[in-house]
Amino acid sequence: MSVNIKKIGVLTSGGDSPGMNAAIRAVVRTCAFHNIECTGIYRGYQGMIEGDFKEMGPRSVNNIINKGGTILKSARSKEFMTPEGRKKAYDNLVKHKIDAFVVIGGNGSFTGGLLFNKEYGFPVIGIPGTIDNDIYGTSHTLGYDTALNTVVDVIDKIRDTASSHNRLFFVEVMGRDAGHIALNAGIGAGAEEILIPEEDMGLDRLLESLRKSKASGKSSSIVVIAEGDKIGKSAFELKDYVDQNMPEYDVRVSILGHMQRGGSPSCFDRVLASRLGVKAVETLLEGNSNYMVGLIRDEVVLTPLENAVKGKTHVDKELIRVSDIVSI
Ligand code: F6P
Repeated sequence: MSVNIKKIGVLTSGGDSPGMNAAIRAVVRTCAFHNIECTGIYRGYQGMIEGDFKEMGPRSVNNIINKGGTILKSARSKEFMTPEGRKKAYDNLVKHKIDAFVVIGGNGSFTGGLLFNKEYGFPVIGIPGTIDNDIYGTSHTLGYDTALNTVVDVIDKIRDTASSHNRLFFVEVMGRDAGHIALNAGIGAGAEEILIPEEDMGLDRLLESLRKSKASGKSSSIVVIAEGDKIGKSAFELKDYVDQNMPEYDVRVSILGHMQRGGSPSCFDRVLASRLGVKAVETLLEGNSNYMVGLIRDEVVLTPLENAVKGKTHVDKELIRVSDIVSI
């Protein structure tokens, strides 16, 4: 392994997700394993600009593998998007003798890392962390699996009350630009309909489907909506629309919100975080930079950061068909 890198910085940036702590732990301990130093950078790029650094060793990450959130805190830094902000960040990294960094986050965090690398030639590796699973170059982002389990758990509970009162529930889940959570958790929770940004279902088809559902003998229904769905209406507006057009339905709305981002990571996320954390450090030590480490067909692979940022993820259309079939 290369001897040029003696100290690696690690930060979490953007929206937090379960598994980030497990990834921090893996990065810190892989550094220790290879006898190099590791510095925790607090509050994402904002902490890099302000010099909010702390040296970390294997014992600084005890008992965090099971914890949601991020011990390093997270932020979305506007200042880092300016050349002046990045200059301050660079000066701090040099002052602390940091030779490379691992950024755990989503697209915005990777874009910041790329810009920084272009300006200062600073080695950067990204680990995909977001519950939305909307990053190109990996089948799973950190936190996605945990969020799916959280959502399924909650919808199971909603179903209990929905069926007791013969009600229709609109349940809004996160996913600003992508329907991965809605589609997968929707199937897992047995939703009658799933509305996602990738498919514009249209209001008429929604009503049609609800009518069919009622006619088939179902007394309660769950419709899962991704936050970024393009049907053009919020969950509350959809409720109003159904109230007006199908008064036979007693409709309620549940917006799951930020509870989806919290909680103890699933075993899948912990193992993924550990694998990606080890690879991130080792690939830096091999002299690589500007890559994202991700999972494809259960193999840890490198994707150029630029592709990860520019590429688009797609929902599996077959899942839409499956959902249509199993929800009749
Ligand atoms: O990117 C993850 C995400 O959870 C999105 O699904 C959601 O739209 C957004 O973060 C919310 O961000 P914030 O916590 O800044 O409100």
